[in-house]
Amino acid sequence: MQTATAKQKLFIGGQWVETEHVHPIYNKYTGELFLQVCKAGEREVSLAVESAERAFREVPFTPEYRYTVLSKVSALLREQADEIARIIAQEGGKPITDAKVEVIRSANTFLLAAEEAKHLKGDIVPTQATPGVGNRFIYTIKKPVGVVCAITPFNFPLNLVSHKVAPALAAGNPIVIKPASDTAAVALKLCELLEQAGVPAGYVQCVVGDGSTVGEQLLHDQRITYYTFTGSPGVGKHIKQTIGLRKATLELGSNSATIVHEDGNVAKAAERLAKMAFAHAGQICISVQRIFVHKDVAQPFMKAFLGHVEKLKVGDPLDPATDVGPMISEKEAQRIEAWVNEAVREGANVLTGGRRQGSLFQPTVITNASKGMKVVDEEVFAPVVTVTTFDTIEEAIRLVNDSKYGLQSGIYTSNLSLSYQIPHLLEVGGVIINDTCCFRADQMPYGGVKESGIGREGPAYAIEEMLETVTVVVNLDE
Ligand code: SIN
Repeated sequence: MQTATAKQKLFIGGQWVETEHVHPIYNKYTGELFLQVCKAGEREVSLAVESAERAFREVPFTPEYRYTVLSKVSALLREQADEIARIIAQEGGKPITDAKVEVIRSANTFLLAAEEAKHLKGDIVPTQATPGVGNRFIYTIKKPVGVVCAITPFNFPLNLVSHKVAPALAAGNPIVIKPASDTAAVALKLCELLEQAGVPAGYVQCVVGDGSTVGEQLLHDQRITYYTFTGSPGVGKHIKQTIGLRKATLELGSNSATIVHEDGNVAKAAERLAKMAFAHAGQICISVQRIFVHKDVAQPFMKAFLGHVEKLKVGDPLDPATDVGPMISEKEAQRIEAWVNEAVREGANVLTGGRRQGSLFQPTVITNASKGMKVVDEEVFAPVVTVTTFDTIEEAIRLVNDSKYGLQSGIYTSNLSLSYQIPHLLEVGGVIINDTCCFRADQMPYGGVKESGIGREGPAYAIEEMLETVTVVVNLDE
């Protein structure tokens, strides 16, 4: 990685490409210039897709070699974890301890994908018992879909890129990445590691630029066969409308909820919820935004929860003691400040927090919030949580489901029967029992229903979506 005043080049067709225009990346805490990144123009975007398409047609990339490259990247990420975490902390504002966790998770994501590359396989379709078909041997093979385009967000600028790049490569697809411009340095660092690990030229490119120019060009380029996106529902819907019949995985966020039931471990719930409602300043798609607590345990829960929240240290992401860093921009912090003020005008109470200093927003706990308020209905993507009491579990389930989103939900309960039933009743892609909705293991299927998106990530599941199934029928009578 270069110094702040140097220009970080783009990665296209195995080459580092310099362009005229730059995007300045600032340190999100100090506001100082961190790095300038070259911006792609129409020519570079087209070249990136052309390189990917040519590599797909002309450059062999065997599963064995995919395993070698992906596992090497995993090892390099581990080796350079401290340096890479510092990039994430500075350009993304993520506290350094969490940034290190992200790098290690990313190394794991690559390793999981590497392992999957060894196990790509089709099926044998049984025909013996079907009249008139017994003389046909039917099987399937899996083929890479073709050129993949990844459009990635700022909040996990390494691991959410990894969740797209590693499966695409494991499946044998070339990829064009368009990372969030404000956190593009770490995506380009990942390209350096991929190059070092020997990824064939053309299998990975990274182009930086605005959604309205670079993004639009990528969506309209018919040489791309598959899109994988994490971001807002508005952009997700636009992608879906623009790409026509081409396939996409869309991970679009949520206003995720966790239930604390009367028989749950209140002390543990209070501690974990205080951490996971404010991790990365709430800028996580599965961040705890709505807590529903049974009325009989509401008082002890609230006391313990507020105690933990008020101990959270807000400040410099490079300080290992920091729990909550800045939001991605002052504009975003102003947005959430306005939403909180609006909720208060509409009758909500702020028990702690609610204050902004530049792009830092204090961890904020709101009660008396209700449907119709933005802090309840929309994805806050900020360090703000609402706490609401309920009388019956049926009411809690109704409250969780009363949302346009459906990514993940958590529940604290010791009731075995309820633990079994509730995943069938909640309208979400993942149910976390005895932990918060903000839990993700990189190997698990991850994705949502309703406006939270379509498709699933997690290397094994993403690879499946990035492969075409070809059916082969052999007539044994000939
Ligand atoms: C996300 O914000 O969707 C990613 C959450 C995670 O990987 O932990």
